[in-house]
Order: sequence, then C-alpha cells, then structure tokens
Amino acid sequence: MKKLEIIIRPGMFEKVKNVLTDLGVHGLNFVEIQGFGRQRGHTEVYRGATMQVDCLPKLKVEIVVHDAALDKVLEAVVTTARTGQVGDGKIFISDVLDAVRIRTGEHGEEAL
Ligand SMILES: Nc1ncnc2c1ncn2[C@@H]1O[C@H](COP(=O)(O)OP(=O)(O)OP(=O)(O)O)[C@@H](O)[C@H]1O
Ligand SMILES: [Mg+2]
Repeated sequence: MKKLEIIIRPGMFEKVKNVLTDLGVHGLNFVEIQGFGRQRGHTEVYRGATMQVDCLPKLKVEIVVHDAALDKVLEAVVTTARTGQVGDGKIFISDVLDAVRIRTGEHGEEAL
C-alpha cells in the first residue's frame, strides 16, 4: 500500500476528487493548508490575482491506495491538477505498513 499526500490548488479539489472516485479510490481525507514552494517571496497567481506573499492556501488530499493502482492514480491526478503554472502542487508518496478496518478487523489491502 502507498500513501499519497497530494498538495493541489484549492480550486482543483472537485475535479481531483471525481477522478479519484472514478478510479475506485474508496476513502480520502483533505485539509486546508498554507504552504510555499520554490517561489517563496515571489509573486504567484491565486484565483486570478497576483499575490506577493510567503504562503498560499493549498489543499492537502491524503489517500492510501493499492500498490497496483499507484501509477494510474498518479497519472490521473497530475493530468487533472496541472495548469502548467508555478504552484500547481506536489505529490509525496510513502509506503504504508498496514491498515485495519476497525469494524471487521480486516488487515492490509483488504482494509482499504
Ligand atoms: N519540499 C516540500 N515539502 C513539503 N511541502 C512542499 C514542498 N514543496 C512544495 N510543498 C507544498 O506544495 C505546495 C505547492 O508547491 P509548488 O507547486 O509551488 O512546488 P514548486 O516546487 O515550487 O514547483 P513549481 O515550480 O511548479 O511551483 C506548496 O505551497 C507547499 O504547500
Ligand atoms: Mg512553486
């Protein structure tokens, strides 16, 4: 299993959520964050406005997926969330040791 922390522009959430659902992702968390990438201190366009700020609002979506689904999910998210402008976001990928569905006690990919 892999965990994806997907940092995107807030306006991309609906599209990304829909594409993940279409791919059979069954669970998801998201949180509103503030962050910066390489252009810290430089201007970036947010909702049509050019802003000179250290941090910009982003959304962090967290999902855990089957190993076999990873490549397809990554490609779909990248394609969906990309505008081609700086600030499109980033995806961090890590291994997940185990998962448990509390109701049934199932472990591993069965629990997803
Ligand atoms: N190395 C990092 N560690 C943790 N979070 C990061 C990192 N880089 C970027 N982020 C998060 O991702 C958001 C978007 O980053 P961003 O897309 O601007 O990355 P970038 O490396 O500057 O790429 P680009 O040049 O395309 O803008 C940041 O606001 C921050 O929340
Ligand atoms: Mg950037």
